[in-house]
Amino acid sequence: MNHPHEEKFLVFGSPLIGEEEIAEVTESLRSCWLGTGPKVARFERDFATYKSVSEKNVAAVNSCTAALHISMIAAGIGPGDEVITTPLTFAATVNAIIHSGATPVLADVDPQTMNIDPGQVEARITSKTRAMVIVHLAGRPCEMDALVPISQKHRLILIEDCAHAIETEHHGRKAGTFGDFGCFSFYVTKNVTTGEGGMILARSEEHIGRAKILALHGLSRDAWRRFSDDGYKHYYVTECGFKYNMMDIQAAIGIHQLARVEDNWIKREAIWDSYQKAFEDLPVSRPASPAKNTRHGYHLYTLLIDSAKAGISRDRFLEQMTARHIGVGVHYLSIPEHPYYQRTFGWRPDDYPNAMRIGRQTVSLPFSAKLTETDVQRVIRAVRTSLAEKREQ
Ligand SMILES: Cc1ncc(COP(=O)(O)O)c(C=O)c1O
Repeated sequence: MNHPHEEKFLVFGSPLIGEEEIAEVTESLRSCWLGTGPKVARFERDFATYKSVSEKNVAAVNSCTAALHISMIAAGIGPGDEVITTPLTFAATVNAIIHSGATPVLADVDPQTMNIDPGQVEARITSKTRAMVIVHLAGRPCEMDALVPISQKHRLILIEDCAHAIETEHHGRKAGTFGDFGCFSFYVTKNVTTGEGGMILARSEEHIGRAKILALHGLSRDAWRRFSDDGYKHYYVTECGFKYNMMDIQAAIGIHQLARVEDNWIKREAIWDSYQKAFEDLPVSRPASPAKNTRHGYHLYTLLIDSAKAGISRDRFLEQMTARHIGVGVHYLSIPEHPYYQRTFGWRPDDYPNAMRIGRQTVSLPFSAKLTETDVQRVIRAVRTSLAEKREQ
């Protein structure tokens, strides 16, 4: 319980939800069409327009994890194949590879960009490598001018994990359109949210057709057409699929979130600039400025706390921020820090030293478009006073 004069807890990643979303969800509920239906179709069309692709190249699903999983299956990736990815990502990226039946292989990140290092990718390619799953971490684009040629030279399927990168661009091209597949997340903390949700963008219409079937049990027709008012249609199970379809209630939120994606990006850019200026004199590392001719998605704003320089450990800093009622995040402890992966693949954190160091030093500050100027100033004050504590454990 907060003391009456204490400021309320600033929840990390709290989304900005407008009246339009609330009205649209209400309308869905009143229409009694809750499942996959016309609003999902509209959300797919709007998303395709935002990405300047055809609606035949997108498929809405119920998470980015699902998008990654069925992209790999649609591409024919399975047991015996190796898939290269980054150790500095959320577990979902690696788990989706494992669920496809393939073996994940890690390639360390670049210490500045925190994205997968193309040189490390090339060093890990074997005769079994079939694909790479790259992550535009925090919204910063990967080095696509190196990664695309590597994928072409070695005939690898290129999958972009765009969970952080809906607005991201590299040399004028939009994230998710470089590879064979782009997979997006609309989880609650993401720049566009549907509560839970995801989208697949595929270069090939055939891949999208297969992904749509895989997302609904492998049925030949989707359920909303089956139950439409032009009569009952038989469906046939063409393969053993999954239950990964998006609901209209989710799409109702997404339609209005997507309409505000650019306004919210501008708000986060202003917060990024405020943080960059405010922390200039502090003994911490701030994120590198976006590279020339790229567009950062501004999904996460992260500081690196090196206890030798800052005089306080990262974990102590997290506690200090929480004590000041500021929600913080860690994106991410490197994948080899987790016991499951150590046990299963024998990975050790120090085999991927850049990801290990970043994972042990990184802190994500509140960065939602919902933050007011007063909130931003509160975060800045809390960072400064937490660092001033300099109480090492
Ligand atoms: C980099 C990355 N990949 C994948 C995912 C999985 O997204 P979802 O929660 O929509 O399945 C996340 C979600 O947090 C993520 O941050």
